[in-house]
Amino acid sequence: MEKQEIRTFGRRHGKKLSPRKMALINDLLPALMPNPENSGRRILEIGFGAGEHVRALTNDNPDAEIIGAEPFVNGVAALLSAITDDKTNALLPPYRNIRIWPDDVRILLRDAKYMFDEIWILHPDPWPKARHEKRRLLQAEFITLLSQHLKNGGRIIIGTDHWDYYDWILDQVKNTSMYIVSGEFKIIETRYQHKNMADTAAPKYLILGHQNGI
Ligand SMILES: C[S@@+](CC[C@H](N)C(=O)[O-])C[C@H]1O[C@@H](n2cnc3c(N)ncnc32)[C@H](O)[C@@H]1O
Repeated sequence: MEKQEIRTFGRRHGKKLSPRKMALINDLLPALMPNPENSGRRILEIGFGAGEHVRALTNDNPDAEIIGAEPFVNGVAALLSAITDDKTNALLPPYRNIRIWPDDVRILLRDAKYMFDEIWILHPDPWPKARHEKRRLLQAEFITLLSQHLKNGGRIIIGTDHWDYYDWILDQVKNTSMYIVSGEFKIIETRYQHKNMADTAAPKYLILGHQNGI
């Protein structure tokens, strides 16, 4: 029997969806489900929120398949709305390389065939109360799971403006086989980051790879 996993996200549904968004969920989303058999460059973004960074990844990596995972239905609908023609609901050409996993990413990652060049996690839910700490996504066990889906030379890029969580993640990494590596990457301000700007100073970023310094 599968181990019951602790829920790492909050609500799955927000306000009622518009008829267009409902149609996109029902008619387009099934065609955008990822397929483990695809080969080539692949990038995963976990917890994409409204999907603005998934879209930026798509623009910057037209040769790669971008898979976004997000269990919040309204977030999935927001991304679908942004990548389609608002009259025909057809997928806009620059977004042909997007795939959407509308659920907990840990379910997708049960399939060992999914291997990634980059895995992005921007502003994971911080679950700041001590009694909720077990709901934090970036536990050592999860980072180890991600490392098993990372190609050689691949990178995990984590960003959070919750500095306590950042330090906590650093401690978790010590209990994995992953290393902190240096590197350059382009970043955009996500919706969650923008909402939180009043409370926090600036995001901190962390890049993880398989080998020390490489
Ligand atoms: C604080 S929001 C940040 C959203 C977005 N990255 C941003 O910066 O605006 C964290 C997101 O992670 C998603 N999330 C949490 N646990 C997840 C999981 N196990 N699999 C996929 N997404 C998850 C939540 O639904 C939520 O939308």
